[in-house]
Amino acid sequence: MRQLSVVGSGYVGLVTGTCFADMGNSVTLVDIDERKIDMLQAGQLPIYEPGLAEMVQRNTDAGRMRFTTSYADGLADAEFVFVCVGTPSGVDGEADLQYVRAAAQTIAKTMRQPLIVINKSTVPVGTGDWTAEIISSNQPQPVDFAVVSCPEFLREGSAIADFMHPDRTVLGSSDASAAERVAELYAPLEAPVVITDIRTAEMIKYASNAFLATRISFINEISIICERLGADVTEVARGMGYDKRIGPHFLQAGIGFGGSCFPKDVKALANMAQTHGMHPQLLNAVMEINAFQRRQITLKARELLDGSVSGKTVSMLGLAFKQNTDDTRESPSLTVARSLLNQGAIVKAYDPVAMANASRDVPGITMCDSPYSAAAESDALLVLTPWNEFKQLDMRRVLKSMRRPIIIDGRNMYSPDELKEIGFVYRGVGRGYNGEGRLANGDD
Ligand code: UGA
Repeated sequence: MRQLSVVGSGYVGLVTGTCFADMGNSVTLVDIDERKIDMLQAGQLPIYEPGLAEMVQRNTDAGRMRFTTSYADGLADAEFVFVCVGTPSGVDGEADLQYVRAAAQTIAKTMRQPLIVINKSTVPVGTGDWTAEIISSNQPQPVDFAVVSCPEFLREGSAIADFMHPDRTVLGSSDASAAERVAELYAPLEAPVVITDIRTAEMIKYASNAFLATRISFINEISIICERLGADVTEVARGMGYDKRIGPHFLQAGIGFGGSCFPKDVKALANMAQTHGMHPQLLNAVMEINAFQRRQITLKARELLDGSVSGKTVSMLGLAFKQNTDDTRESPSLTVARSLLNQGAIVKAYDPVAMANASRDVPGITMCDSPYSAAAESDALLVLTPWNEFKQLDMRRVLKSMRRPIIIDGRNMYSPDELKEIGFVYRGVGRGYNGEGRLANGDD
């Protein structure tokens, strides 16, 4: 059993802390946000993540996990502190590092015994170096410490499984023995460990996310071409994915990537390149295609609704940026909702868990209590988040309740033939519709 402290109770901090506690360590989670700590102490989670609430409960009951707003309390016996604070986008896409800086300063002022400071937040290359400088210059008296970069690769919605079965653990440090000690914490997970320098570790995180985002923009660009040429991108991706050099993952065409990571990280990496005098052409194209892909949905709705959505009722299934999360940060669904509302549409929506967050972000959406009540009396139905519960809807019932039989399947969840057969006018993403109509060109 090791004594760990985790700073920050967002997705990364909560999942990391809880999983380490579950592996038998003693974990104290520190957050300066009293509301979050109060919730956690009362047995509630500030976020939705499948399986996490039960795991937190189990570990707090077993006395392996506790929560505090005090760094002094949190760091009292810690040998390791994981920094898992937010790094939002600044005005030009650069990562805003105020929380990382503040955490480093407070750790420096509070630590009383040797400590390994492990950074899990996604931070620009070079951050680890200045974190070390901040710590040494803010310590009231010198205490040994080492900084290790350990980027996280968790996906929201499957974060626990991703933590427990990682593809790899990346550790970067100028102190090899500190990196080895962190590797021991991860040893029970039996994943390959890459030990490298701190800048390289920081870059591995950005390059990984940017590569996955690039695959999505790639297949989305192919989807546009497929649509015009009468091919089906879902079959194209399947046919490509069997090639071992390509693989099947992150090749689902859709409404573009969202969430708190890909959009922010691609922008931040492009910004790092730009500020060093480079022209990150591919990264810029990845972002441009992503924005275009979101616009396609509104364009399709407009085309099918006789050139205008004004005064029409458009319903949306799915508000979260992906399934199994209540997170609506950078959610493509919300971009679509804003655009439809700006064009005068009445927007109704249903999401299993993200409606509270979405109403805060886009107050004009009318929230419904089921997919069926969302679809009722609408002129078009947009399916935007691939939740399981949308897969087996009674589509005849949906169709009967709608004013017009239009469905735009933004995640290619349904069989175009089946829906057409029961009477829907169907548009997917990148599923060519062979001369039945052409997408209108133009801006929304
Ligand atoms: C992503 C990475 O997958 C994680 O490895 C990383 O740790 C995390 O960012 C992070 O940096 O913290 P996440 O944002 O939770 O995880 O979600 P993903 O499952 O990667 O999906 C991102 C977006 O891409 C979603 O909007 C999803 O719908 C979209 N997507 C994904 C597609 O449009 N097509 C695909 O084939 C896959």
